[in-house]
Amino acid sequence: GIIRKPANFISTISDDRGEELLYAGLPISEVVQRDVGVGGVVSLLWFKRRLPEYASRFIDIVLVITADHGPAVAGAHNTIVAARAGKDLVSSLASGLLTIGPRFGGALDGAAAAFSTAIDEGFTPAEFIEDMRRQRKLIPGIGHKVKSVHNPDKRVELVKAFAKEHFRETPVLDFALQVEALTVKKKANLILNVDGCIAACFVDLLRSCGAFTREEADNSIAQGCLNGLFVLGRSIGLMGHFLDQKRLKQGLYRHPTDDISYVLPDVDV
Ligand code: ACO
Ligand code: LMR
Repeated sequence: GIIRKPANFISTISDDRGEELLYAGLPISEVVQRDVGVGGVVSLLWFKRRLPEYASRFIDIVLVITADHGPAVAGAHNTIVAARAGKDLVSSLASGLLTIGPRFGGALDGAAAAFSTAIDEGFTPAEFIEDMRRQRKLIPGIGHKVKSVHNPDKRVELVKAFAKEHFRETPVLDFALQVEALTVKKKANLILNVDGCIAACFVDLLRSCGAFTREEADNSIAQGCLNGLFVLGRSIGLMGHFLDQKRLKQGLYRHPTDDISYVLPDVDV
C-alpha cells in the first residue's frame, strides 16, 4: 500500500489547496457574501468558529477604538522616529509594535487573568487590591497617563455601553468596575483603562456568547488573544503615522538636549 510520509507541520485554521481558500472551513466567497467583516474573520482565524453577530461587531468596535491614540503615545512615537530615520513601513511598524507590553497597550492579558483569578478565588475588590499591593504589583488594566475621572476616556464608555447592552452577563466587567471605584479614591487617574475594560468585557463575551465551553473560552484567553486585539487595532494607526511622516517628508529626529537631564557619575580616571 501507499506509505504516507509523516507530516512535519500541522495547521487547523486555513487551507489554500482547493479551488477556493478556506478560513476555518468556510470558503472565502461565503466569507465575503455573508459579510462577516473583520471581526468575523478574526473569530474564524483565531478561534476557528463563527461568533454571534453582536460578538463580531464587538471585535470590530475594539479594532476601531484601539486604532490610534495620537502621535505622543509610546508606539506611535517609536514608529514616527523610525520613519524619520528613513526606515520602511514594516520596520517602522515593528518598532512601534515592540513598545506594546505590560505598561502600554499590552495589559489586556494580564488584566483578564488578574480580574478572573480574583473572582474565581472569591476575593472582594478590596481584598484583590490589597493582595496586589502586598505583592508590590500594579493592577493591570488600571491607570492612565492622561485620562482620569475628571477627563474620562470615551473609548472605555463606548466599550462598556456595548457590553452592557448586548452581552448576556458581565461579571468580570462588573468586578473591574468595583475595583476602579476603589482605586480612583486613591488617585483620580487610576481608572479602568481601555486595556482593562476591553479585557474584562472580552472574558465576559467569550464565556457567555454560547460559542465556547467555559474551558475553551479560558484557554483561548490564556493563549494571549487579548493583547492580539490591541496589536491588530493599533497596527492601523501605526501605519497611518508612518505614511503621514513620509508624506510630510520629515527628516531625521534628534531629541532636544535641553529636554534631557544629563546626570553622569563622577568616575576617577
Ligand atoms: N495599580 C495600582 N496602583 C497604581 C497603578 C495600578 N495599575 N498604576 C499606578 N498606580 C499608583 C502607583 O503605585 C503610584 O502610587 P504612589 O503615588 O503611592 O507611588 C501612583 O499610582 C502613580 O503611579 P505612576 O506610575 O506615576 O502612574 P502613571 O500615571 O505614570 O502610570 C500607567 C500610568 C503606566 C498606565 C500605570 O497606571 C500602569 O502601569 N498601569 C498598569 C498597566 C496598564 O494597565 N497599562 C495600560 C494603560 S492603557 C494603554 O496603554 C492603552
Ligand atoms: C493609547 O491608547 O495609546 C493610550 O490609552 C495610552 C495613552 O497614554 O494615551
